[in-house]
Amino acid sequence: MAPTLAIDVGTSMTRVATETEGLVLAEPTVVAIDTRDGSVVALGHDAVELVGRTPRHVVAFRPMHKGATTDFDVAARLLHGVLERCGMGRFSRPRVLLTVPAAATAIERRALRQAARRAGAAHAHLLEAPIAAAIGLGLPIHDPVASSVAVAGAGTTEVAVVSLGGIVSLASIRIGGDDLDADVAAWVRQHADAVITGTTAEALKMSIGTASEHARPRQAEVPARRTTDGAPFTLVVSGDDVQRAIADHVHQIVRASSDCLADAPPDLAQDVLVHGMHVVGGGSMLDGFVEQLSERTEVPVRTCEAPAEAVVLGAGRCLEDLGRLSQLFASAER
Ligand SMILES: Nc1ncnc2c1ncn2[C@@H]1O[C@H](COP(=O)(O)OP(=O)(O)OP(=O)(O)O)[C@@H](O)[C@H]1O
Ligand SMILES: [Mg+2]
Repeated sequence: MAPTLAIDVGTSMTRVATETEGLVLAEPTVVAIDTRDGSVVALGHDAVELVGRTPRHVVAFRPMHKGATTDFDVAARLLHGVLERCGMGRFSRPRVLLTVPAAATAIERRALRQAARRAGAAHAHLLEAPIAAAIGLGLPIHDPVASSVAVAGAGTTEVAVVSLGGIVSLASIRIGGDDLDADVAAWVRQHADAVITGTTAEALKMSIGTASEHARPRQAEVPARRTTDGAPFTLVVSGDDVQRAIADHVHQIVRASSDCLADAPPDLAQDVLVHGMHVVGGGSMLDGFVEQLSERTEVPVRTCEAPAEAVVLGAGRCLEDLGRLSQLFASAER
């Protein structure tokens, strides 16, 4: 039997799970390539570390944007490196199950499958992220009772109501944590005449950022440069500042959830009212997000232990049943 792997190539993180071991790899979706000969110099965290520390011919690439493959060749190289890391050599071509956003276009789906095959996979199946998450959470997706899952990622947010093995209502927006980081950086530029890196913006969001207008006061000191002369200095940013900076996008993410519920048939919406909406994805860890979501949607919101891993772990669970679940993959591979 060919080995099988579940792979979630996310906008910011790539994760791999197997049926028996659970999560076996979690690395940033970044690959450092030597542009002289196209060879991969480093992958994931190592590639991030290399940025700015290497000769100019080593360049870090991020092949995914807003949940989709934007650079086929780089995505294939990244996946090749991932397969190698997971012990797949030239002679053990694995079967892989890749997760995709439920709103991915046919072209985006094909690009990802082909990148996996180019990387050495013998066969690439697809599974839609909200379904994978629901399976990962152990929700009864094959029953005639509705389950609701919100997947808040770095590039996309998808909220689905699932019943009888399929998605009955979906709200998908190409807005996620990356957009909040950009909001923070833009706010700093406009209000403090300073420039911060994307990494600093993300760190601010995670440490003092909040979706709540009533959060306790917090502040952080971060390295910045003045826009006028480029001089480095220490910038003080408050939680309130970050909250205001990201509020619009947080609002859009929350609204996607209400839109999804509003589109669901009344009986199924009633099920969600009873069983609640499950939130996963790294973006769901934003302070105050869950409270904001339950306030606006008026349904109970359920969290889980490792929200960022739910999608890939769910796909990993499907590996044992590739045959029986082929219906699910077929609909994702259209
Ligand atoms: N504690 C936190 N507070 C706020 N945001 C967080 C926190 N932890 C992680 N995030 C954000 O979660 C996002 C990453 O989540 P995840 O790994 O689910 O995304 P992804 O799968 O790479 O992206 P996508 O599914 O959109 O392609 C990043 O934007 C990150 O900044
Ligand atoms: Mg994701």
